[in-house]
Amino acid sequence: MRRKVTIVGAGNVGATAAQRLFDRGLADIVLVDIVEGLPQGKALDMLEAGPVIGTDSKIVGTNGYDETEGSDIVVVTSGLPRKPGMSRDDLLLTNMKIVTIVVEETVKRSPDCILIIVTNPLDAMAQRALEVSGLPSRRVVGMAGILDTARFRAFLAAELDVSVESVSALVLGGHGDTMVPIVGGTTVGNTPISKLLSASRIEEIVQRTRDGGAEIVNLLKTGSAYYAPSAAIAQMVEAILLDRREILPCTAYLKGEYGLKGIYVGVPVKLGANGVEEIIEFDLTPDEAAQLKSSAAAVEELLEVMKASA
Ligand code: NAI
Ligand code: 2OP
Repeated sequence: MRRKVTIVGAGNVGATAAQRLFDRGLADIVLVDIVEGLPQGKALDMLEAGPVIGTDSKIVGTNGYDETEGSDIVVVTSGLPRKPGMSRDDLLLTNMKIVTIVVEETVKRSPDCILIIVTNPLDAMAQRALEVSGLPSRRVVGMAGILDTARFRAFLAAELDVSVESVSALVLGGHGDTMVPIVGGTTVGNTPISKLLSASRIEEIVQRTRDGGAEIVNLLKTGSAYYAPSAAIAQMVEAILLDRREILPCTAYLKGEYGLKGIYVGVPVKLGANGVEEIIEFDLTPDEAAQLKSSAAAVEELLEVMKASA
């Protein structure tokens, strides 16, 4: 029997993630949205691609939740995206309500699922999902670090005219302006980037990474990025379904790791069949540790706003 993945939100990110997963044939997919006809139409269109792609997976779209029952993974992409001039944090209270309803409805029907939260502001939404779901924290994980790291790697690869696979990098922290690219550990073919690029050029690339989401919002004007985000979701889903135990930067609940407690923030995790199998700790420089702490403080501010509104 194939595994079952529910994706809530059949907009740009959700539908593109569904397509990536459907094409890989790893699971049956249920696509949920509140807009009548939208998830049904997109799911049917993808199903009809099956004979061409050669996948026997099933995909259905629905405006309800009954079809999601018994899902192994629930990916939450429902909510508003940013428009030009908006920060991810501007979405907080509207998306908090949406994530609350979606998590309640899905976890009721799939109490053993792993939740992958995508809706922004990501770190705060993951925290909300943990509280509402009652699931153990290893089963509630957020997607952001793979995307932020991919942007950093893509920019460095283009700058140095090398394969993206030759660039090894990691971006930690909250999914926002305070994200923490680990510059000291970034290498290209094992050579530290400090030996390949000037400090000022590295700083420009770091800043472009921090602004990576906004750069796309400003170009698209009507929404935010979805090709790279959906690729990152598919990597997380595959790591869980295939128990790959892949070490990936994900938004995870910290219980003292990196000196942070009771908060979701981006760190390297071992992602496998049980969700976050382990949080991987490595030594940060004092400057990186301070940046991670201030990134967590920015997340904490959003948690306070959510608490005050509850
Ligand atoms: P979109 O507007 O294309 O799609 C969102 C979908 O959610 C819409 O189809 C809408 O009808 C649906 N929706 C709204 N309320 C719902 C509810 N109560 N139940 C079910 N469906 C509901 O937006 P897009 O581009 O797909 O982005 C989705 C979210 O993901 C946004 O919050 C965006 O900021 C976030 N995002 C996060 C990333 C990350 O790295 N964590 C990367 C990219 C996007
Ligand atoms: C991004 O970074 C919108 O969070 C999303 O593209």
